[in-house]
Amino acid sequence: DFMREISGLKVLEEKLKETLKLKNVFVVAGNSDDSPWVKRELGRACVSRIKERLTVNNIVAVTGGTTLAAVADMMQMDCKNLHTLFVPARGGVGESVENEANTICAKMAQHTNSNYRLLYVPDQVSSEVYASIVTEPSVKEILDLIKSSNIVIHGIGDAVTMARRRSTSAAEWDAITTGHAVGEAFGYYFNEQGEVVCKVRTIGMQLEDLQNVSHVIAVAGGASKAKAIQAVIGQGHTSILVTDEGAARELLKSI
Ligand code: G3H
Repeated sequence: DFMREISGLKVLEEKLKETLKLKNVFVVAGNSDDSPWVKRELGRACVSRIKERLTVNNIVAVTGGTTLAAVADMMQMDCKNLHTLFVPARGGVGESVENEANTICAKMAQHTNSNYRLLYVPDQVSSEVYASIVTEPSVKEILDLIKSSNIVIHGIGDAVTMARRRSTSAAEWDAITTGHAVGEAFGYYFNEQGEVVCKVRTIGMQLEDLQNVSHVIAVAGGASKAKAIQAVIGQGHTSILVTDEGAARELLKSI
């Protein structure tokens, strides 16, 4: 803590809390855009925040992405007696398998001696398929678990970066560009004001479901994600932000 004090990280945290109107902000040193090890530090810091909040019989829902994969890599704890259940927050959003929520969820469970359930649904479905698939008993059972989660851990992406990385339809691209999306989380794209301008129809947790979750932990770093972080936090569901110095300094610069 002393090191964090003298390196100015505490000051950044205080300023971010004020700017983002958020009680819990945690900043790690470095900029994950430039140094890959910073992502691991984000992962480590995120794991500590989870540990502090985990109680018995919790359901933890997780999203995908390389940052969440780093969280899973850094997660080493024995939760056997806590009976934690890990679930993916949403079905696939067109990510490669190592970045998929299902993969990350299974890894977290393995690293903590916990249980997990997976959601096997196609990436992006038509409205007809969507309506029928959510009533399928095996899918519905997981959806109910997802909706009763106590802790959600999610990444935040730069809108265009995410749209490029995923299978994004022409109609979605149109909504993302004309809506001036800057940030993405859960398959939702947000503009600078924090409004949703595009939503990828996937199965699982929806933005409004976050209201019922005790701890919504956002983990995202890198100066390139400053606007994205501000936009996503702007919708008001986050309880804890774990970020890095690169994102924090860039975000505060634009105020
Ligand atoms: O939804 C946001 C993305 O999953 C973030 O992905 O951690 O690889 O930047 P990333």
